Amino acid sequence: MKVKKAVFPVAGLGTRFIPATKAMAKEMLPVVDKPIIQYAVEEAFQAGIEQIIFVTGRGKKALEDHFDRSFEIEHALEHKGKSDLLKQIQELVPKTGTIVYTRQNQPLGLGHAIWCARDIVGDEPFAVLLADDLIQTDKPVLSEMVKKFDRLRASMAAVMEVEKEQTDKYGILDATCVEDDIVRIDDMIEKPSPEEAPSNLAIIGRYILMPKIFEYLGRRKKGAGGEIQLTDAMKILLKEQPIFGYKFNGKRFDCGDKAGFQMANLAFALERPDIRNRLIKFIRDVEKDF
Ligand code: UTP
Repeated sequence: MKVKKAVFPVAGLGTRFIPATKAMAKEMLPVVDKPIIQYAVEEAFQAGIEQIIFVTGRGKKALEDHFDRSFEIEHALEHKGKSDLLKQIQELVPKTGTIVYTRQNQPLGLGHAIWCARDIVGDEPFAVLLADDLIQTDKPVLSEMVKKFDRLRASMAAVMEVEKEQTDKYGILDATCVEDDIVRIDDMIEKPSPEEAPSNLAIIGRYILMPKIFEYLGRRKKGAGGEIQLTDAMKILLKEQPIFGYKFNGKRFDCGDKAGFQMANLAFALERPDIRNRLIKFIRDVEKDF
């Protein structure tokens, strides 16, 4: 029952970032100097994940190349004596054979994208990471969830409180608190209006799921926005198995949204000693104009 595989759905159209996403997956957009997908892949390996499964669509080539060796760049860096950079790009390439790619031929929704990985995952619990949910925290969220899973042995999603007016952007929970940072999910609804929402507790893009979910995803039932939604399949799973929510500690940025993406860049850039002071000076100068 160890969580060894992680699915990364990266086949969405990213329409909110057009034209940047016309020929490139949104997950390849950089936050400071790393594509957002790399943050999520690093988080997965840190949590002990052994196999990365990308469900891709357009922009596949850039993503595949990013996680592969580039002899041309390595040679140039070696020649120029830039050993730090050389080490960095060599280290970001996972061990041969640990990445698997499959393709979602049509962007029918997140639930459908995950279902596309069913044969690669097989009959074992697996993680799902949505790279556009970037989380700044001392304790990487997936590592914490894997620890909780080892004890609870049930499906789980990362959750956080959102503003009541924002519930129509998330999967929202009806849940009961069972530990300081764990809730037991009683029901869930995808993108409810603030009036319909049973709470302001929202699901964020980190999951550990039991393989039974594939059966319900396979029904291909359309939900909110006419898409095959993961939340709808989890709702059916709930009738048979418990699902928990992990209330993580940290700041979450929605990099699928233009403002959220800029905030992520600023927050992560302020953690970099080499650029921090210049940015603070700039922010103070800009602030004077408001
Ligand atoms: P979003 O809801 O952000 O959709 O997907 P999107 O298409 O990427 O972006 P917009 O709304 O058009 O700007 C959440 C995650 O699910 C993946 C996306 O790649 C993203 O990681 N996804 C979504 C798929 O892989 N396939 C789909 O059919 C839909």
